[in-house]
Amino acid sequence: MTMTLDALLDDIAGYLGKPDEACFSLPPEAYLSRGLYDLEVKRIFETSWLCVGREEYVPNEGDYYSIDVMGEPVLVVRGTDGKVRALNAVCRHRYMPVAQGKGNAKRFTCPYHAWSYATDGRLVGAAHMEKSRVFDKAKCSLPQYRLESWMGFLFVNLDDDAAPLQPVMTPMAKAVANYRIGEQTEIFHYEEEWAGNWKLSAENSMEYYHHIALHITNVGIQCPARGTYIPPLPASEETFTHERCKIDDRFLAGADHALNPKGDLSGLTDEELKTAYMVYVFPAFTMAMRVGTNNWLSFRPDGPEKTKVLGGYLMWKDVVAAEPGLGEQRRALIEQVNREDALATTELAKVMRSRKAARGPLSHFEGTILQFYRYLARTLASDRSAVKRAAE
Ligand code: FES
Ligand SMILES: [Fe+2]
Repeated sequence: MTMTLDALLDDIAGYLGKPDEACFSLPPEAYLSRGLYDLEVKRIFETSWLCVGREEYVPNEGDYYSIDVMGEPVLVVRGTDGKVRALNAVCRHRYMPVAQGKGNAKRFTCPYHAWSYATDGRLVGAAHMEKSRVFDKAKCSLPQYRLESWMGFLFVNLDDDAAPLQPVMTPMAKAVANYRIGEQTEIFHYEEEWAGNWKLSAENSMEYYHHIALHITNVGIQCPARGTYIPPLPASEETFTHERCKIDDRFLAGADHALNPKGDLSGLTDEELKTAYMVYVFPAFTMAMRVGTNNWLSFRPDGPEKTKVLGGYLMWKDVVAAEPGLGEQRRALIEQVNREDALATTELAKVMRSRKAARGPLSHFEGTILQFYRYLARTLASDRSAVKRAAE
């Protein structure tokens, strides 16, 4: 590691002024530096909307699951009023988590001294507290985090003053409108930890170039890397990036193949029917789509060299209802693709510390990665004096 944090930030800022054809990948230090990681946590992950799952995980009143969000113990719960909330799981008595794992509860009763909380976080019971002069039930609710929903996806923001989620999602939502994501349901999901910096996972999920080798036995045949192109982004759009990949003629609608679209295809454009489409919403949410299906991922860093990965596979509800076995049929293929992606980032992470490791030039199929670097530059390094202050 030879670059200081200052030099690294100057380097990242440099992506803002450089044409794509002159760009290299990030230097190894960007994936290893504790200083950069701390800054990313502060300026990105503690202030951005992070996807923590789907509404399907809490379909009924009282359903809950716990999830670690950047070290915060979050309890996602559907209240008796039907509303989904993100509660802080820390008991207001002496800090015990009031619930862990997942389940269904009318009340959360703390396993330490049995204080009990309603599903909206209000304290409703606390035995033997009548002699305390400072105990005020109304002041002992479990605090809430900001939570908003988009097309069935649940997003949490640790910053109480953050701007709403919807304006972040709207530009991307317009681009994917025909895919009718709101009509989809999750067939299966997975929660994993991948070795390596979160940016390795992010970059892997925003380009089809790697279909040329990493996925050559599966989706690389159906969507060969040579079919990659980057549609223009709406003017001054800085919340997401996207890429399309032409489906090989042999696998277009009508042919008998596991990933061919099913369901109502009216309203879809020729481009949509003939390409795979990937959208990546900064900082850490991505959807890899074909018409009718959606393989989504959300990344949460856990230190500079570990990444928590949450993901799932969605299909249109009516297609699932008509063919309930379809999801299972596709599961093996999707899991294989995901295993290959996980393996790639793990392998990269193993050698990143090599003294001979060096950044390399990017292909024109990797313009999305440059848009990601420019997002990092805007967020972390566009105002270098402000960056220095935040790091102090
Ligand atoms: S810590 Fe929860 S009741 Fe004491
Ligand atoms: Fe991949």
